[in-house]
Amino acid sequence: MDSKAGKYKVKDLGLAAEGRKKIEWAESRMPVMMALREKYSKTKPLKGYKIAGCLHVTKETAVLVETLKSAGAQVSWSGCNPLSTQDEIAAALAKNGIEIYAWHGQNVKEFYWSIEQTLSMKPNLTLDDGADLIFTVHNKYPKLVNNIIGGTEETTTGVHRLRAMSAAKKLLYPVIAVNDAETKWDFDNVYGTGQSSIDGILRATSVLLAGKNFVVAGYGHCGKGVAMRAAGLGANVIVTEVKPTAALKATLEGHVVMTMDEAAKIGDIFITATGVKDIITEKHFKVMKDGAIVCNTGHYDCEININHLAALSKGKRTVRPNNEEYTLKNGHKVYLLAQGRLVNLAAAEGHPSEVMDMSFANQFMSQIRLVNYHTKGIKVEPQVLDIPVEQDQEIGGIKLRTMGYKIDKLTKEQEVYMNDYSAGT
Ligand code: ADE
Repeated sequence: MDSKAGKYKVKDLGLAAEGRKKIEWAESRMPVMMALREKYSKTKPLKGYKIAGCLHVTKETAVLVETLKSAGAQVSWSGCNPLSTQDEIAAALAKNGIEIYAWHGQNVKEFYWSIEQTLSMKPNLTLDDGADLIFTVHNKYPKLVNNIIGGTEETTTGVHRLRAMSAAKKLLYPVIAVNDAETKWDFDNVYGTGQSSIDGILRATSVLLAGKNFVVAGYGHCGKGVAMRAAGLGANVIVTEVKPTAALKATLEGHVVMTMDEAAKIGDIFITATGVKDIITEKHFKVMKDGAIVCNTGHYDCEININHLAALSKGKRTVRPNNEEYTLKNGHKVYLLAQGRLVNLAAAEGHPSEVMDMSFANQFMSQIRLVNYHTKGIKVEPQVLDIPVEQDQEIGGIKLRTMGYKIDKLTKEQEVYMNDYSAGT
């Protein structure tokens, strides 16, 4: 592995040219980010600020990183999942002078080592996807908090945990919940996860989805997107849920709802999207059909109990990239994709650039917002902050314009009417 002490550790710097072409491809499909880069590279609002980031190293993330740098920030980066780093992208970033510690196939020790390297810059801001960076600060390097003005969090799982931390009064600095922006969750989580998860399953298996019993565990935004796309390809979608209203929505979208205990017996393909551990366990593997395919698209690899699968098995071999065949003692074969990690990022390239454009515009604007609070001397208590409605509408508006769509505008009279509670029949 190439290594230049303190500055980067990536798989192979020789992959940089290949990575750069992919980043340029992403740039051509991320017009909101490119507009923000153009605007803020002139004023450099992040000059003098150090950002430690921990987020999947993909071509889209590279566009975010280089936009933060253009706006004046000093950036240090690590990946937020051991299997999601695209080595050519990490190489291209390193070659462009970005401090980065990331390579595909890290073990857990290397994963946390990389996070800790990024913290050696003593950041002023953190940028997370899944909250491992912010937890490392809180649990291992709490003194760093003295330099930190705030952070941003990309994903549902991370925001959940941060809200729990905040409720327990354990959160030491303010964090903006990027995930909860409408221009994030209503697009990235639904259409991004929908497409990229199917992409990951197909790259790892190349199976036909039409006619298959496709079990989606969890009907939140991500599960909904996956179910919608699987149904579009002709699969019979079965949803498992714990929340009555979510299950109800699934039925009204035309999906069948049942418990995992029932679904386990008839599913051909299983995907977990719950954010909760032990969704598929021993009792489910035991009753699965021969040839069942199992994968996860939730942030952590705890949704499928792989220890249970291993304990039930007499053998294991890799049959295709990101596809491991477990032979159970009952003779059935179960195929586990991407080692139970995010199938969309480990077996494919993550969400398409077009959708990450809005998610990362929210990341970028949120980092600037935290800096603005700081420069204006506005004290923000440690808490989880929402994205302002105006930011959502601004990002949505730019996206729409770059797609070539025009929309109507309320007249003055309509605005008055909307706010007039006395108007009726
Ligand atoms: N999360 C899901 N897809 C992603 C992508 N393409 N880049 C970064 N993070 C992601």
